[in-house]
Amino acid sequence: MKKVLSSLLVLVVSFSLSLTAVSCTKKEEEETKEGVAEVIDGAMEKAQEVKEQAAEKVAEMQEEAGEVVENTKEQVAQIADEMKEKAGEVAEQVGEKAGEVVEGAKNMAEDAANKAEEVKEEAKEIVVAEAPTTKGDPTKGKEKFELICASCHGPGGKGDGPAAAALDPKPRDLGDAAYVSTLTDEHIFKTVKEGGASVGKSPLMPAWGGTLSDDDIWNVIAYLRQDICKCQYKGK
Ligand code: HEC
Repeated sequence: MKKVLSSLLVLVVSFSLSLTAVSCTKKEEEETKEGVAEVIDGAMEKAQEVKEQAAEKVAEMQEEAGEVVENTKEQVAQIADEMKEKAGEVAEQVGEKAGEVVEGAKNMAEDAANKAEEVKEEAKEIVVAEAPTTKGDPTKGKEKFELICASCHGPGGKGDGPAAAALDPKPRDLGDAAYVSTLTDEHIFKTVKEGGASVGKSPLMPAWGGTLSDDDIWNVIAYLRQDICKCQYKGK
């Protein structure tokens, strides 16, 4: 009986032990389940928060984007307006400038035409002034002529001066208009200044460059043209 009791006791003890174990496991399982649920809930809450935040962010961004688009639109419109205005100004300025240039060109053309007219007028005057009369003073030329040239060419230039008789060839008859009008002033100048030989004539017509200044020679030529041959150069 003692044996049965003890074995019964063992049985009871082991049963209760196993019961405790079962209840322990059950409890643990319960706790775990709760923990998992909590975690899941937490995660879902977090997810919800994140979703909400994201939605807020998106809304903000959309608003900002809207503003940016609005601002950009306004700015573009403003820039376009400014450019239009600027273009208008530039066009106006260009138009003005072009007008000025045209006006300037017209004035220049007019000036040029006037200048041309003046120059033509002056040229005419020069031709008129230079062609018939020689530079030089005939009154002063007369003195030199009578002092120097007359000894050979004669006081009236006829080639009948006191020294003429001894010369061969004879001194030119400077009163011979037909001949002297074939001589240019420059030719006579060179003949007198550098002598007959310098123009292919006789060396008996001396060089007077040492005695007479250029002005003296031009004066003599003026006298010769006005009173001796009474002629101008007419070409050959
Ligand atoms: C010493 C004498 C003498 C004196 C002074 C003299 N002549 Fe002559 N002249 C001559 C002779 C000679 C000739 C001719 C030369 C010939 O035909 O080859 C001549 C020729 C000329 C001719 C013509 C040139 C030509 O191409 O045909 C001129 C112009 C002239 N003399 C100007 C003058 C004048 C102006 C003076 C005064 C500054 C002057 N002579 C003084 C002797 C002289």
